[in-house]
Amino acid sequence: MARVNFINKDGSISTVEAPVGLSVLEIAHKHKVDLEGACEGSLACSTCHVIIDEKDIKKLDPAKEEEEDMLDFAFGLTKTSRLGCQIIMTEKLDGITVRLPAATKNIMLG
Ligand code: FES
Repeated sequence: MARVNFINKDGSISTVEAPVGLSVLEIAHKHKVDLEGACEGSLACSTCHVIIDEKDIKKLDPAKEEEEDMLDFAFGLTKTSRLGCQIIMTEKLDGITVRLPAATKNIMLG
């Protein structure tokens, strides 16, 4: 079973089991990790914004154009930012570290 390390908003780390084939968003929800995902993976929001650890970013397939477009709306964008709903777990991604941003745009807009 693959694993994902989530760095929570308070800096604590949650290492969780990550079944291959599930998205990082689905994995977060399964383990009650605080990642929003308002549109449930239909690329219509940016609330599933996550920041991938620099050492892990090369393991991921590059973002598709639709993902890039939606990421432009994410608050606190970084060069290793991705959308959690678009990262599908594979064996190759075992052990990746995924940081939750301190805020998302929806929260900022209140
Ligand atoms: S959950 Fe909305 S884009 Fe990922």
